[in-house]
Amino acid sequence: MSFRIQPQPVARPNRCQLFGPGSRPAIFQKMAASEADVINLDLEDSVSPDDKPQARTNVIEAIGGLDWGKKTLSVRINGLDSAYWYRDVVDLLEQASERLDLIMIPKVGCAADIYAVDALVTSIEAAMGRTKRIGFEVIIESAAGISHVEEIAAASPRLQAMSLGAADFAASMGMQTTGIGGTQEDYYMHREGAKYWSDPWHWAQAAIVAACRTHGVLPVDGPFGDFSDDEGFRAQARRSATLGMVGKWAIHPKQVALSNEVFTPSEAAVAEAREILAAMEEAKASGQGATVYKGRLVDIASIKQAEVIVKQSEMIAG
Ligand code: COA
Ligand code: MG
Repeated sequence: MSFRIQPQPVARPNRCQLFGPGSRPAIFQKMAASEADVINLDLEDSVSPDDKPQARTNVIEAIGGLDWGKKTLSVRINGLDSAYWYRDVVDLLEQASERLDLIMIPKVGCAADIYAVDALVTSIEAAMGRTKRIGFEVIIESAAGISHVEEIAAASPRLQAMSLGAADFAASMGMQTTGIGGTQEDYYMHREGAKYWSDPWHWAQAAIVAACRTHGVLPVDGPFGDFSDDEGFRAQARRSATLGMVGKWAIHPKQVALSNEVFTPSEAAVAEAREILAAMEEAKASGQGATVYKGRLVDIASIKQAEVIVKQSEMIAG
């Protein structure tokens, strides 16, 4: 271990983030009643330019007006390249109730993007006498974002979570696909007449996880566009969980249960992790640093691996 201890991210469940357009208030109550851990009311790309002012008003009313239970409540503002974002921040911080937990900043390209929003938010919080400090989450969805991912993860103590936004990311990278996450038809290996599909999102996800874990930020997988494909969603989500991500977006309510299922450690996984911890307790008691569990090596590193699963399970349950 480095002399510098790896910081822990905020301890709250983030298995599923359910999105809905701010211009569609008819679904807000359904979002509030869903099983998602995080709600993202959107002011950005699911809202057309003409609807931006009305969407802001809808969202501000709903933040204070609906019962969001224990959910983390987040609003996605417009990007810093737009004419809308400053008004999003000013209106939210001046008018929305303190129930608002997070602001999601899309299309982040460098740490200074977060610095700019932080400066504005900090000033309005002080001016308004807001007592609850707003947190941030960001979307990595551009070539610049992934190139500067580590400085972005380190940019502000407000930062709680970072998502991969597959659609804008693919466009920014010039990727030849219109798919949002999941298997891409032309990304395959070929051998002896057979195709083997590979995962074009893998490296970006791994880069996000590494940056997030270095700086105590929650790494999250973004949207899976084909909401008719449950098995495709599950496969994508399982890969993300295996790589260290803690949750995934839902862009349709039917994806919430799928995401919760994948990102809640299964009873079998927790039971096995506890058995590994017990096996290592026994090993330590007899002076051993390594032992055999079900025919395979477990050692002191296995304790940390098992603890990831047990702690995640306990945090979600509690
Ligand atoms: N949250 C909660 N409920 C939702 C919902 C959402 N995001 N989207 C749809 N619903 C509701 C519908 O109102 C409908 O409810 P009902 O059974 O009471 O009538 C039910 O879920 C089924 O909806 P369905 O008809 O299948 O979908 P739709 O055509 O109404 O909407 C989308 C489909 C994709 C347009 C919509 O889900 C959506 O806007 N998703 C979020 C898009 C977004 O925010 N993108 C930005 C992030 S990428
Ligand atoms: Mg986007």
